[in-house]
Amino acid sequence: MSIRKAVIPAAGLGTRFLPATKSTPKEMLPVVDKPAIQYVVEEAVAAGLEDVLMITGRSKRTLADHFDSVPELETALEAKGDEKRLAEVRRSTELANVHFVRQGQPKGLGHAVLCARHHVGDEPFAVLLGDDLIDERDPVLPTMIALQQRTGGSVVALLEVDPEQVHLYGCAAVEPLEGDDADQVRITGLVEKPDAADAPSNLAVIGRYVLSPAVFDVLDRTEPGRGGEIQLTDALATLAGMPAEQGGGVYGVVFRGRRYDTGDRLDYLKAVVRIAADRPDLGPDLRAWLTEYVQTLT
Ligand code: G1P
Repeated sequence: MSIRKAVIPAAGLGTRFLPATKSTPKEMLPVVDKPAIQYVVEEAVAAGLEDVLMITGRSKRTLADHFDSVPELETALEAKGDEKRLAEVRRSTELANVHFVRQGQPKGLGHAVLCARHHVGDEPFAVLLGDDLIDERDPVLPTMIALQQRTGGSVVALLEVDPEQVHLYGCAAVEPLEGDDADQVRITGLVEKPDAADAPSNLAVIGRYVLSPAVFDVLDRTEPGRGGEIQLTDALATLAGMPAEQGGGVYGVVFRGRRYDTGDRLDYLKAVVRIAADRPDLGPDLRAWLTEYVQTLT
């Protein structure tokens, strides 16, 4: 069954960015001049997923506003003849069919995904986490979607990380998958945020998933795990051990492209600089200034 829907969990409190996130959702923090969430929606749309469900919570109203129209702003820009900005304002409105559901209680990523059950129904779907931005020049979702379609199971994106970083991620045990592409693997086990000594590999799950709808029944019976939260990683570990006829089987696509982590402050700053340095409008001036600035740091 083809994949049409994307789910974006966006209910987190954003405590790492306080006080900026006291009244602004962290998903709305600008990465150059666009809120982080818009990059994620653009990635979903570029992969053909125009039905987007955001799982939000309290104080997330501006997320809905961003994807809605603003007639008075549009009228003002029209009157000024500012076609360029008008197009930018309209772009986020026209990008996708964006729906919202609220996760009443902060019970974890697995619980957030379970909140999508009614909207998604009985078809495979993608999950995109907003803290990971994937460069549009290195799309990974199309490869993941193709692997889901070939296997009928679930697929996660994997990144090779330094062993001392694995405790920040879900971590996968893998074996080779029949086929020509060594970067496509079968997952035999998953552990949420293991200590380096217990990690089955240095392959970390990054925030892109293409899931079989069988995940919902599994999540429904998944007990709280690490941090007392219902973990998506634990549900995927269960699916990895289930037969294909029951929607089981989990696969990985090793991602080797450009990815920006906007989840913590230092990585966020790096992401903004890297993305701006690559932009044709800002890049040349920013690079020239950066080169000069770096001299003053030594
Ligand atoms: C979540 C998942 C984790 C995954 C990570 C990717 O953790 O629980 O398995 O590796 O996203 O960014 P979080 O970063 O929300 O703590």
